[in-house]
Amino acid sequence: MQFLVRSEQKTHMNATPASDLLRSEHRLVETELDQLLHAVKHPTVDIVSDLRQALSAVQSLLQPHFEKEERVVYSYVRSQLPELLSKLDEQHEYARALEGHLVELLAAIQVAPDERQRAELVRFATELYDVIQHHIVDEEDQLLRLADSMLSQEEQTALAVKMKDVEASSCSTGKGGCARVPNEAPIES
Ligand SMILES: [Fe+2]
Ligand SMILES: [Fe+2]
Repeated sequence: MQFLVRSEQKTHMNATPASDLLRSEHRLVETELDQLLHAVKHPTVDIVSDLRQALSAVQSLLQPHFEKEERVVYSYVRSQLPELLSKLDEQHEYARALEGHLVELLAAIQVAPDERQRAELVRFATELYDVIQHHIVDEEDQLLRLADSMLSQEEQTALAVKMKDVEASSCSTGKGGCARVPNEAPIES
């Protein structure tokens, strides 16, 4: 019902391509996060390999996503929403730190995790899942909702173009991963 109300409201609003691009990427990140959580909630004998694969998929989406947000949308609205942006910055920082801990831990495991390593894998992966899910809710309920009301259609369009440019330059330089949004229109020059 909530979805129907939101969809109906949106038909009366301006187009919001920058916000929509970030929302679409959130849905992709959530799918990969579910795999990460599944790997620790239903561990197989190959939990390390499962987690390496799931974490790599999360990172390949999250790194370019964070970069687009920070370099384009966050910087554009930061002066108007300083407190919110400082909270979102901290969440990005914490998610990156947890990612780093998981990467280090996985790299340190040679064959199979001992009990302490297994407990830490579960703790860090679960915490990473929770932090990112919480962050996505904060962005969608606060940042993107405010952006939808504050920014003009032209501003939204310009920000969406800039984010695609940031992604294209990250992909071409091999820096970070390259997020893919299904059915995304090709970049026009
Ligand atoms: Fe974010
Ligand atoms: Fe986001």
